[in-house]
Amino acid sequence: MKTEEIIAQELNPQEFIKEKVSEISSMVGDGLAINALSGGVDSSAVTMLGHKALGNRLKTYFIDNGIMRKDEPRQIAELFKKLGVHVEVLDAQKPFFDALKGITDPEEKREAVTQTFYKNVFGKLVKESGAKYLLQGTILTDVDETIAGVKRQHNVFEQLGIDPQKAFGYKIIEPLVQLRKDGVRKIAEALGLPKSTYSRMPFPGPALAARVIGEVTPEKIKTVRLATTITEEELASSGAFQYMAILHQDRVTGMRNGKRDFGLQIEIRCWDSIDARTATPTKLPYEVLDKLANRIATEVPGVVSVTYNMTRKPPSTIEAV
Ligand code: XMP
Repeated sequence: MKTEEIIAQELNPQEFIKEKVSEISSMVGDGLAINALSGGVDSSAVTMLGHKALGNRLKTYFIDNGIMRKDEPRQIAELFKKLGVHVEVLDAQKPFFDALKGITDPEEKREAVTQTFYKNVFGKLVKESGAKYLLQGTILTDVDETIAGVKRQHNVFEQLGIDPQKAFGYKIIEPLVQLRKDGVRKIAEALGLPKSTYSRMPFPGPALAARVIGEVTPEKIKTVRLATTITEEELASSGAFQYMAILHQDRVTGMRNGKRDFGLQIEIRCWDSIDARTATPTKLPYEVLDKLANRIATEVPGVVSVTYNMTRKPPSTIEAV
């Protein structure tokens, strides 16, 4: 498949879709392919491209790794059912939490999620299914940042000299690797996905594990998941590119019911950006921040501090981990 960049302004969605559908068909032949859907715009677009090319010879799985947002597995499976695509939800919470146990280093966390996903959980599925091809929604920004050593994106292999055939036993097809997010959104819309999908904000592959500083435990995920739900509710109308809640490792002194409470800290980030390469904190109205902070401090058990990040990318990055 081609790898040179196509910028969103020069992209012809119908032509692109036609070209990729025919490339996928000829690569897979009459064999089977498999893909994992997370519900994000990239994997949703790949799922639709794959189903156009292969019909039910593409097996689509939602891997419930335990670190997704509230109700995500059920919501995504229902949405795709409406679009005529069967999604198999696989409960894999235990292997992911086991792999994350005791790890505090950000890149080691990414690696733990990657290895568990590709080798342990998905690798097994691929072997059982007899599929020789894995369809994946890697985009150009993932490749750039991984090669530059900024962050090891969970879905980048060949560009790092890792042969997935040797490492995992299957070939990877990446139909979106010439595009950035704005291009993928155009493709997703042209593929008939709903606005809630094609305009959906980005969410990282390592999911909420990227939003917990320090060790990831089921309990911390529960905390950051609840803070995320509130943040997404309160900032839904902000028009921002991406917003998130992050659970810090350090505790700070707070007070509750007149007593000292050495509690948890949540950091809110809300970004204006076009393609995630650079970003600026959104100028949220004070009232919005005030309401959000109050809701998190009242509704999320143990939280005594809520802060708002004011630093641009660079030198910040969008995610904290
Ligand atoms: P950063 O934090 O590098 O994020 O400024 C840029 C964009 O990429 C998303 N992101 C990730 N996506 N796997 C992903 O699939 C990852 O490991 C990862 N890390 C960051 C992030 O949400 C932002 O939109």
